[in-house]
Amino acid sequence: MEGFGVNTYKMVNAEGETVLVKYHWHPRAGVASLSSEEAAKVQGQDTGHASRDLFDAIERGEYPQWDFYVQIMDDHDHPELDWDPLDDTKIWPEEQFPLRHLGTMTLNRNVDDHHNENEQIAMGTGVLVDGLDFSDDKMLIGRTFSYSDTQRYRVGPNYLQLPVNSPKGVEGGANTHQRGGLMSFGVDVAPGQNPHVNYEPSITGGLQEAEKKPNNPPEVSGQLAPASLERTNDYLHARGRYCTMNGWERDHLVAELGGMIQQAAPQVQERFLWHLFMIHDDYGTRVGEYIGKTADDVRHLEPLPSQRFTEDETKRLQNLGSNSDALDASQWGDWTSSVINHQVTAEEVLQGLGSLEYSR
Ligand code: HEM
Repeated sequence: MEGFGVNTYKMVNAEGETVLVKYHWHPRAGVASLSSEEAAKVQGQDTGHASRDLFDAIERGEYPQWDFYVQIMDDHDHPELDWDPLDDTKIWPEEQFPLRHLGTMTLNRNVDDHHNENEQIAMGTGVLVDGLDFSDDKMLIGRTFSYSDTQRYRVGPNYLQLPVNSPKGVEGGANTHQRGGLMSFGVDVAPGQNPHVNYEPSITGGLQEAEKKPNNPPEVSGQLAPASLERTNDYLHARGRYCTMNGWERDHLVAELGGMIQQAAPQVQERFLWHLFMIHDDYGTRVGEYIGKTADDVRHLEPLPSQRFTEDETKRLQNLGSNSDALDASQWGDWTSSVINHQVTAEEVLQGLGSLEYSR
């Protein structure tokens, strides 16, 4: 499987200069997918095939590896783009923002105890090391509050004292003012610190805040208000994805959506189809066949109240279903980095896939 960070972070250099950054993980073992029929056959015999595959490969010493890439943008709001760089429903086209290889992750050990080392892990978007920072990505900010809050409940208030979660490799150790609570087993005092003081500033030998690293984000001015993103551009990125898929991926996508939407109420079917026609003629036409509807059945629908249509989108709506959309992946250049997706069968998965051809 590929990994895509979705949210936008920042990187900060030693001088405090900031850039926006998006993360990608590319598996060296390649990418494979099952059709829903084949997936059902696998599930009939092995409900945890992917975990088993990972576990067995590591036990055999065939350590899975992922290459780590970043895309980088200057840290400002990029008025030249017709989509918002902090919109999580968008990718950053790679011809404009190329992938840069930063390193490789190797999974070289299975856990000894599933509960201690896996169930009790507390991953969260708010856990940063020096050199990283948050962007103003709205969803990132929401997630950052939410994960640690949940983890204090799910694992316990001292979840950061557990070996699997405690900070590693911090010079002098990581020391905090956290005290008490369920299952506390120590106070993380710094060497020579007065363990009775849990506040700062103090003149009686308490902890002192570490020196702040420089961080000089760009200046912004304007109104701070709860508002929707302005540059929604709802369909361009979906069109790029549809056009750059393999033919077999598109066939499955259409069949899955067609089958599902048959079960929806007629008004839902119509709005859904309208969106698909806004993305691509072919997409709407093919899914429409499953519900016996065409562009003529949905062209009367107005944009949703939350949508701000661009000129192009208004034109598309006027010609709904006959926008002469091409299905030519080459027109999209290096739009997305997707690793080649191999279509595999249940039999192949149950036997163990090993490594597939890795290419982009
Ligand atoms: C692109 C969007 C998101 C992705 C990819 C994502 C992904 C994930 C994943 C993979 C987990 C499981 C982590 C684990 O097994 O340890 C998780 C858990 C969780 N997510 Fe999200 N999430 C997203 C958005 C959100 C948002 C918007 C919120 C709330 C504002 C949220 C709140 C949570 C919480 C509270 C947990 C449980 C954390 C825990 O108990 O460890 N997520 N998310």
